Amino acid sequence: MSRGSLAARVIAWQRSHGRHGLPWQGTRDPYRVWLSEVMLQQTQVATVIDYYGRFLLRFPTVRELAAASLDDVLALWSGLGYYSRARNLHRCARQVVAEHGGAFPGTSEALATLPGIGRSTAAAIAAFCFGERAAILDGNVKRVLARVLAFDGDLARSPEVQRLWSAAVDLLPQQDVDVYTQGLMDLGATVCATRQPACLLCPLAGDCQARAAGQPERYPVKSRRSVRGSRVNAWLWVQHADRLLLAQRPSPGVWAGLWSLPEYASPEALSAAARTWPGQGQWLPAIQHALTHFEWTLHTLAWQLPARAEVPDALKAWPASRWVGLDEARAMGLPAPLKKLLAPGTLR
Ligand code: ADE
Repeated sequence: MSRGSLAARVIAWQRSHGRHGLPWQGTRDPYRVWLSEVMLQQTQVATVIDYYGRFLLRFPTVRELAAASLDDVLALWSGLGYYSRARNLHRCARQVVAEHGGAFPGTSEALATLPGIGRSTAAAIAAFCFGERAAILDGNVKRVLARVLAFDGDLARSPEVQRLWSAAVDLLPQQDVDVYTQGLMDLGATVCATRQPACLLCPLAGDCQARAAGQPERYPVKSRRSVRGSRVNAWLWVQHADRLLLAQRPSPGVWAGLWSLPEYASPEALSAAARTWPGQGQWLPAIQHALTHFEWTLHTLAWQLPARAEVPDALKAWPASRWVGLDEARAMGLPAPLKKLLAPGTLR
């Protein structure tokens, strides 16, 4: 198969079978495209759509985003996960305003120097907004290209990733790079699935070397298997006169900068601490939360301090903490499990 014909098939397929009418398509505004690409880096389209709309209502331009506090940005990001994206997004907006007069740079090379914009994201923005012939290679596209080419280099090794980047550049079409780029993304997301790819629907099936070899799922090859560890901690949901104690999480760390419940090393440590407190408490069903590097079990003790009782010293002195009403809490930047606990009706 010639290189031109691969791109031509992807382009024709995208036009007839790819995704159209997504909220970030049909614009060449780099701010809007950048925002969508960052949100889509680790999150599926269906989840991103609502967040994207809310974000743009609140921050219609990069200047408004740059002028916001990080707390406000994290509050709107709350539930999307991978919060370093939100922190980099905010830093990037400030840099675009401070160093580029509020206009995103017009090449993938310059875009890739900004916080949170890697080579693939930079290329996607430049292809969509400026029609630049720049190659993308996110996780989905690695899978598509590794299969089409039966690329058996180990993608845990960066020289092999570089080789695949070179192949991606060689495959770029002369024209319609924006449609081609969207087509590769759409193929990876809807047809060339990790397991049980829908080869019968694939415009590249006839030329796919992995399929010809009978085992498309063998590609891409990646040797490193991440072994997820586990962690057990305890959270304290403590209310005093209708207000809840929240603590801002330290940076660096999991959920840095988000508002969460005071955390204890273990349920035993929390039980021991609570022994002297006025009022009473009960343990809630344990929360299981999967993060990239570990599976987290959080045991939550719900404790009610009587309105007239004094707040225990340990809680008064809790670092970076605030007592807030439940409605106020719901509007803050919260980790997903706490957001669920705070949803009306979950507790009492
Ligand atoms: N994933 C990453 N970028 C995307 C885009 N522009 N459309 C759909 N899925 C994507």
